[in-house]
Amino acid sequence: MTAEYKVHGAVAVITLNNPPVNGLGLATRTAIVEGLRQAQHDAAVKSIVITGAGKAFSGGADIKEFNSPKALAEPTLHTVIAAVENSDKPVIAAIHTVCMGGGLELALGCHYRVVSPGAQIALPEVKLGILPGAGGTQRLPRVVGLEMALNMIVSGTPVASEKLVKTKLFDELVEGDLMTGALNFAERVAATRPLPKVRDLKVDYPNYEAFLQFSRNTVKAMAGPFPAPLKCVEAVAASITKKFDDGIAFERALFVDLVQTTESKALRHAFFGERAASKLPDVPADTPMRSIKSVAVIGAGTMGGGIAMNFLNAGIPVTILEMKQEALDKGLATIRKNYENTMKKGKLTQEKFDQRLSLITGTMSYEEIGQADLVIEAVFEDMGVKETVFKKLDEVMKPGAILASNTSTLDVDQIANFTKRPQDVIGTHFFSPANVMKLLEIVRGKATAKDVLATTLALSKKIKKTGVVSGVCDGFIGNRMIEQYSRQAGFLLEQGCLPEQVDKAVEKFGFAMGPFRMGDLAGNDIGWYIRKRRYVEKPEVTYSKTADLLCELGRFGQKTSAGWYDYKPGDRKAYPSTVVNDMIIKHSADLGIERKKISDAEIVERLVYALVNEAANILDEGIATRASDIDMVYLTGYGFPLFRGGPMFYADTVGLPNVVMAMEKYAKGPHGEAWQVAPLLARLAAEGKTFN
Ligand code: 3HC
Ligand code: NAI
Repeated sequence: MTAEYKVHGAVAVITLNNPPVNGLGLATRTAIVEGLRQAQHDAAVKSIVITGAGKAFSGGADIKEFNSPKALAEPTLHTVIAAVENSDKPVIAAIHTVCMGGGLELALGCHYRVVSPGAQIALPEVKLGILPGAGGTQRLPRVVGLEMALNMIVSGTPVASEKLVKTKLFDELVEGDLMTGALNFAERVAATRPLPKVRDLKVDYPNYEAFLQFSRNTVKAMAGPFPAPLKCVEAVAASITKKFDDGIAFERALFVDLVQTTESKALRHAFFGERAASKLPDVPADTPMRSIKSVAVIGAGTMGGGIAMNFLNAGIPVTILEMKQEALDKGLATIRKNYENTMKKGKLTQEKFDQRLSLITGTMSYEEIGQADLVIEAVFEDMGVKETVFKKLDEVMKPGAILASNTSTLDVDQIANFTKRPQDVIGTHFFSPANVMKLLEIVRGKATAKDVLATTLALSKKIKKTGVVSGVCDGFIGNRMIEQYSRQAGFLLEQGCLPEQVDKAVEKFGFAMGPFRMGDLAGNDIGWYIRKRRYVEKPEVTYSKTADLLCELGRFGQKTSAGWYDYKPGDRKAYPSTVVNDMIIKHSADLGIERKKISDAEIVERLVYALVNEAANILDEGIATRASDIDMVYLTGYGFPLFRGGPMFYADTVGLPNVVMAMEKYAKGPHGEAWQVAPLLARLAAEGKTFN
């Protein structure tokens, strides 16, 4: 059942019951209309309350139904809202917890709205690349005013119900039991006629043209490649410039256009991708969790400090361990400095600053961390050092503690085997800066216990990370893919490109940063170190030597004020470097390569398809659980453009046969050995299927 119907005295109560968030799918919409019909026909019923069961009034339209026949099937949300609005008996929305999107639009169609404190009120459609399509852009301005409605609709940000009680959106704030308050209210208004309708109100805003023009300019500058925000402004503008029904028709037309855009599909893919990533097929949702009330971090360097901050921000106490007092003091001072900077920017209050710092303790003694529920190791990337640390942890940590490693390249199974409890060992691969980057790769070892995985996934949500599970392999999901991308970037330099052209092409495609600017930021010596290992372990894999030559010049990137680009002291701007460009051109000549012009389109194809091909292998090997997990890794950790939905989603939109065809073409060119089409990609393309 998706909505329950009950009668309390003279009040009919329709309770939406479509867990988890009472999404207004076809079955729920049908049940609401049926409930209204029953109430109309029951002479004893004088008024009707609509509310939601569980943890929401309603989270809005059912996003899973978009672009499917169910979305357009009658009764549509428009039909439901019309049925509510045209009801002869007063309809009261009793709102609590979450009232969003179509849920708020339904409430706006009701004659009255009562609400609990603390309910999250929003029209968040813009975050899914669309706009409110069931009257929200026309009705909300009529109750909260043009300016507030525009802000809510363009940003999609929830507003707490108590902040809206003074507006016409709500008729009453119910402090006690919501249903008791709603039933009392319903009885009070049972005889009121005519029934108030939001559509009959007028939007009043003097000199609205100037305000709307200002909004268009501001929103245009902020919207980037997304079409929805500006369309939101146009739709809200119609609430004041057009008659109500014309405004509704205008909003509808914009909604229908937006819902079909790739940008909106990409955003919806990311919404569901983020939630799917927290689930593993063989780890049931009811797997018992281990309780994490305290955390220890080993190593207070670049990563250890940032990792600790995540837990402090979530109110979880952290003990950070170092070998030397000096290193410990330096690490703690960096954490303090980071918080001070945030406070200076006005993003942290003194109270929160004090609270966070009160939760951190430094130590040099393992005895002091033994009772922590979770320990994360972030010491030097060296198997010998990891062995010493994990053997020690095995000795001191209490039974049941989770032992995690932040290693970015080492074998988590080998690390687990340094202990007598490999089931408690897991990889938690944070990205730098660890207190900022959203991505957390959770590395599942062969022996990692299911409750350890479930706990770590839940914890990632608590510390506001996107947790994605990866199997054990060299580079896990993200870095294993980036290696193929960097290889292509190197070949492009040999064949005719300069760093700036490659970076600009990729940044125009939408990446936050091209490969060479990214290398300069992360440190080119890291890739150099990895390649040196590869030359010994996998001599058959070819690389351009250009990056090695760069490192031999000591040009490690921003940290040495010289990398692929030149840098000026105190300035992160990348200036094209004559030294580097000459070095690149000379290297081509030394190899006897005739440099040629390579188009931006080819640059993008080669870099992105290199990612896609490796990702297909990762998926095929079961290192990633699903294609959308790979997309989440790239969207949250590698600056892949959100409006393109991630590498796998992008490949799907290009069409896998087209991707394969391009790869086969590159396979015939120089370094064609890098273009062996992954078996899964070839198979899906041949079968006309997609990754997602
Ligand atoms: N449709 C379908 N499923 C939805 C949904 C929706 N509108 N909103 C949430 N869900 C699902 C999630 O996919 C998730 O499913 P899962 O358990 O199978 O993974 C489950 O509900 C719980 O979601 P969260 O993990 O996000 O739970 P939270 O409690 O953290 O947050 C929420 C709840 C605030 C409602 C959050 O889910 C959210 O922001 N949802 C999106 C709301 C939204 O964008 N509404 C507008 C929809 S578009 C619309 O209404 C069009 C209309 O204008 C015509
Ligand atoms: P870092 O060199 O900045 O910090 C390491 C810290 O560990 C130092 O402060 C050092 O004194 C301390 N340390 C070393 N041995 C120790 C021991 N036995 N006991 C206690 N403390 C010890 O290194 P960074 O960059 O923080 O890297 C740490 C780990 O995180 C490595 O495994 C690395 O591969 C991984 N990582 C690094 C990323 C980065 O961008 N720097 C990104 C993701 C993972």
